[in-house]
Amino acid sequence: MNLPSLVTRSFAALFTFALIVSLAAPAHTMGWRQKSIDLREKTILVAGASGRTGHYVIRHLKDQGLTIKSLTRNEERAIERWGEEYRDMNWVEGDVRDADRMMEIMGGVDMVISVVGSREREGPNGPEFVDYKGVVNLVDAAVAHNVEHFVLLTALGASDPDHPLNKVLGNALTWRIKGEEHLRASGVTYTIIRPTGLVDAPTGEKGVSIVQGDKWKDIFRGTISRDDLALVFLETLRNPASHNTTFEIVNRDDIEPGAWQDQINQLLNDEDLNAQLAREKTQ
Ligand SMILES: NC(=O)c1ccc[n+]([C@@H]2O[C@H](COP(=O)([O-])OP(=O)(O)OC[C@H]3O[C@@H](n4cnc5c(N)ncnc54)[C@H](OP(=O)(O)O)[C@@H]3O)[C@@H](O)[C@H]2O)c1
Repeated sequence: MNLPSLVTRSFAALFTFALIVSLAAPAHTMGWRQKSIDLREKTILVAGASGRTGHYVIRHLKDQGLTIKSLTRNEERAIERWGEEYRDMNWVEGDVRDADRMMEIMGGVDMVISVVGSREREGPNGPEFVDYKGVVNLVDAAVAHNVEHFVLLTALGASDPDHPLNKVLGNALTWRIKGEEHLRASGVTYTIIRPTGLVDAPTGEKGVSIVQGDKWKDIFRGTISRDDLALVFLETLRNPASHNTTFEIVNRDDIEPGAWQDQINQLLNDEDLNAQLAREKTQ
């Protein structure tokens, strides 16, 4: 065989090998970034937009020129809280406990970020009615309107019924996990983000660590900047590697501030994660 034909055959063999490997292995194991989703044509509903996390989320979405619907129970109260620069946020008024209103508001929405949360331990706006039944209303409306992606904020330790916070916070974590389960079972593409303690530090001061498996005892002393968290929410909308995943998030001093972007590419979807956790248990 002459040299040019040997080179051509070697390249062909290499190409075939690479193709077989890439078809056989899921994208996350290859560390490849899948094609980013273009958000410019999308309308994004933010539930809890007026809150301490939500106002960072709508600020970043707006700064990136994206189309938003910002949900609050009271627009004037939200603007008073965050200032005049928050007037132009396309506010829509509604209560997540009102299923019919959520159905109306969801019209024309392509993607949802929910950072809604009860501030009360009990009563009619407590965790059962906001963090669970309110989330159910949002998810059901999203299903009815063929929403493409629903990103939900819950809390670190949500999967542990014996978590001590359940005792002091009106079973808040138990209601959170029921909301998570409803979203997973809905058929809508989802991402569930469970933060550690939320703090109001500006983005980029620390690194961000994304982990899976809800091993909350390892990181429960940690905190996460609400501003960092808001940027992670946005990235999950863009990056298909976040689809049907659940992860925990915490700031760390020993990681480069931007490194978390790549951690999203390494996420295991919930099916693979559960299989891995089951294997760990038997070892
Ligand atoms: N604090 C922490 O350290 C921590 C840690 C882990 C997880 N979390 C979770 O993160 C959530 C968000 O935290 P945050 O600090 O951003 O909370 P936040 O400032 O209290 O914001 C809560 C948001 O929920 C909205 N809301 C409450 N009840 C509602 C209802 N019935 N209908 C519609 N909207 C409603 C509020 O909107 P309006 O009042 O304008 O209607 C507000 O925008 C918490 O609720 C908690 O579950 C918190």
